[in-house]
Amino acid sequence: MKLISCENYDDLSKKASDLIVEIIKNKKDAVLGLATGSTPIGVYQNLVRENEKGNIDFSNVRTVNLDEYIGIEKENTQSYHYFMNFNLFDRINIDKNNTHIPSADSKDINYCKEYDKLLDEIGMRDIQILGIGPNGHLAFNEPASSLNMRTSIIDLTEETINANSRFFETKDEVPKHAISMGISDIFNSKVLIVIASGKNKKRALRKFLDTDKIDPQFPVSFIRLHPNCYLFVDKEALES
Ligand code: GLP
Repeated sequence: MKLISCENYDDLSKKASDLIVEIIKNKKDAVLGLATGSTPIGVYQNLVRENEKGNIDFSNVRTVNLDEYIGIEKENTQSYHYFMNFNLFDRINIDKNNTHIPSADSKDINYCKEYDKLLDEIGMRDIQILGIGPNGHLAFNEPASSLNMRTSIIDLTEETINANSRFFETKDEVPKHAISMGISDIFNSKVLIVIASGKNKKRALRKFLDTDKIDPQFPVSFIRLHPNCYLFVDKEALES
């Protein structure tokens, strides 16, 4: 794992997006694994800018997303479908048929298998962007996840519901379940880009950096096992 220390959020977003821009420039039909949450917004803004300048072309790029809440409409401004359209897909020259986000409609285990089938068809991604939850979750893989997990319906922990309630008017509105790509598929990417910014990430980052131990109760620790992982952190997240 390569730890890349950045001055601030803008610097982190620039450094992480530069890597992605490089990959898309070298491979027109790159496959990108995308994440939601507030952290990747700066990266997406930079990708939009590079696309507007004509430096990168998304017309043959395919994307696959990590996760989605269960039980909210795609059109709901809190859904990850809405997030991706608003922050990226509606602003770049991507063919939306080439973008994939797990459905928010179903708690049916068969749907998880369908998403796994899609992931198998797509195969290894060129890059996977990841944020970190305050309890160390990756996508929505909460504590007690395992390395061989595939797409699952997750009961969100109280800590995740609390952390994500900042995006909703009340905590009661936060969905209690989500669908998430499993760790084994998250790892099926040539490069992992993990980004952590700001004081809210201090505790998780400290815990991650304090030990080399791989701990299923702290899923982000699994990233140490990936052969080509970049962890971008800014000063605010690092300062103790
Ligand atoms: C959600 C997402 C994760 C994301 C995490 C952190 O729980 N499912 O994929 O990494 O939030 O988000 P933020 O970047 O807003 O701190």
